[in-house]
Amino acid sequence: MLSNISKSYDRGSELKAFDDTKAGVKGLVDAGIAKIPRIFVEPATDDTGILPVSEGTPKVHAPVIDLTGIHDDPVRRKEIIQEVGDASEKWGFFQVVNHGIPLDVLEDMLTGVRNFHEQDFDEKKMWYTRKPISWRKLVYNCNFNLYRSSTTNWRDTFNVPVAPSLPKPEELPEICRDILLQFIKEVQKLGCSVLELLSEALGLPKERLIELGCGEGLNILGHYYPGCPEPELTLGTSRHSDPTFITVLLQDLTGGLQFVHNNQWFDVPPCPGALLVNIGDLLQLITNDRFISAEHRVIAKHVGPRISVACIFYTGLNPTLKRYQPIQELLSDDNPPKYGKTTVKDYLLCCQMNNIFGKDALSYFKI
Ligand code: OGA
Ligand code: NI
Repeated sequence: MLSNISKSYDRGSELKAFDDTKAGVKGLVDAGIAKIPRIFVEPATDDTGILPVSEGTPKVHAPVIDLTGIHDDPVRRKEIIQEVGDASEKWGFFQVVNHGIPLDVLEDMLTGVRNFHEQDFDEKKMWYTRKPISWRKLVYNCNFNLYRSSTTNWRDTFNVPVAPSLPKPEELPEICRDILLQFIKEVQKLGCSVLELLSEALGLPKERLIELGCGEGLNILGHYYPGCPEPELTLGTSRHSDPTFITVLLQDLTGGLQFVHNNQWFDVPPCPGALLVNIGDLLQLITNDRFISAEHRVIAKHVGPRISVACIFYTGLNPTLKRYQPIQELLSDDNPPKYGKTTVKDYLLCCQMNNIFGKDALSYFKI
């Protein structure tokens, strides 16, 4: 990320002017810009200490797990539980194939998200808002944290909470309504199956994580990453981990997703037909650090748009009073609790108040 940008520009008014267009990053690209506006430029130096993607070394492949047989082959199910547990401890994420969601549903969902972002602008801008999600079921904007983050990401997104209560059909945009409803049903089923596997991988009864409410809330984020004229200067999504229990990610074949593993960035090349599951901060908290919430980001590219759909399993800012803490059965004299109790809402508020987009927020809950 090389740039020598002066800090003296009036970022606030540039953000406001950009926000007022309601056209997002796609609007800039449609206008034919050749240089990216300053609000998108990342700082020239990276002080995270995380090593860059190493081009010379063989690519380490994050685990791809075949879910064939999870419901009817007890021997295979045991092996899968082992694979899921290993990946969640070592990597914090894994990809799944033969997950039960028909491939045409995945394809159509990616097309639905693309159609939403590429629809007639007069139609699309009616969904653009920065008001809280409770104001309207589906919210579209460019960077939910536009005014809080130090740089703006090269990405537009719609966000819709679909559980615990499913929006009424008329609350969803017509252009992707049917596929969204079909996809939600499928991904909820898969999310439950994954939570069952994760419970068993922890040595707990299959239902345990679901009983705790880990599958109770679900938001769908429909991301649109336009091609970028200067991709080396910006990011599609900045480094973060997800403040969720789990996230199920559907991505197209463009690529650009990277994860941190052993303090180094790794490309996660898309695998046709696969979905990626990553462990979120809240699952790290309740497993007392046994499963890790992996940091990730999306780099910007010349080619685009890249489409992805992040299905984030958590109850968001819904006022559920459930308090989470390390699961009792996982604790022992040698493994005392590392975290105190928190609600999902308080965890998110802590991230917001401290402007943290990731697991650094966990340290606020350490005992
Ligand atoms: C997210 C995320 C990655 C992607 O929404 O939390 O990490 O590929 N998305 O869009
Ligand atoms: Ni994420």
